[in-house]
Amino acid sequence: MSIIAKQKRKILITGAGRGLGLAISKKLSEEYILILHASKEGNIKSIGEGNYALYADFSDPVQVSDFCKKLKKEHGDSLYGVINNAGITIDKSLIFQPEHEIDRMLNVNLKAPIMICKTAMKIFTLSKCGVIINISSCVGETGNEFQSVYAATKAGLVALSKSLAQEAAALNEEHQIRVLSVSPGFIETDMTNAIPQAEKDKYLQKIPSKRFGKAEDIAEAISFLLSDKASYINSTNIQINGGIR
Ligand SMILES: NC(=O)c1ccc[n+]([C@@H]2O[C@H](COP(=O)([O-])OP(=O)(O)OC[C@H]3O[C@@H](n4cnc5c(N)ncnc54)[C@H](OP(=O)(O)O)[C@@H]3O)[C@@H](O)[C@H]2O)c1
Repeated sequence: MSIIAKQKRKILITGAGRGLGLAISKKLSEEYILILHASKEGNIKSIGEGNYALYADFSDPVQVSDFCKKLKKEHGDSLYGVINNAGITIDKSLIFQPEHEIDRMLNVNLKAPIMICKTAMKIFTLSKCGVIINISSCVGETGNEFQSVYAATKAGLVALSKSLAQEAAALNEEHQIRVLSVSPGFIETDMTNAIPQAEKDKYLQKIPSKRFGKAEDIAEAISFLLSDKASYINSTNIQINGGIR
């Protein structure tokens, strides 16, 4: 049993208002106190009794910095878990991708999670326990046409997670800190809704499970990975993709 009593464990979920973040929030609400993040007020439709909401546009480093300060000040005594889920893709050939779009993907998908991990690691180093799960993507490993920057940010999250887990061990003699990443395949959310049907059909042929994933498929796995039952799963990347190749 970790040092923060189970009934008091607080979990931050970024991008909790829709898609994977919403499904993860619903699943975790049975067991934890939640800190639900969205890019702006109004995007969390239901906070739920005993839970909290925090807002920040992660494309703006100033808002990320304020968010991290608030997180530490208001929840630093009881933060147990972080699910870095918020993310965007702007699909385009790199040749035609303007720098502001590159910066936006880097800031939302990589810099914000790095700064949130930094804050969480400071907290966890004191409590000597905690779990960070960074939501990567299968394309972080395979690459994907017209997603060069997106894929690079997602590969970055895998390396970040593995490195931080090793760092936690180096800095803390006795600790129960775990850091890992999860790489979903093709999951039905707003992010994939915009893909043309012909493209979707092509993806489907590459999935041995013969269906696209549901947000709940990811939420179930996150719930397990966060729990003490997964205490030996650390410094690794978990693929949840129906076997896509
Ligand atoms: N769907 C898939 O097939 C798939 C596959 C692999 C990986 N993923 C990853 O899974 C995560 C969730 O994706 P999803 O499919 O649920 O996408 P989604 O439905 O498009 O939701 C994106 C989430 O990111 C948040 N977000 C976007 N821009 C933001 C900003 N500037 N600042 C702060 N938050 C921002 C959104 O919050 P607001 O609504 O408040 O703006 C929203 O909650 C992402 O990291 C994505 O890369 C998804």
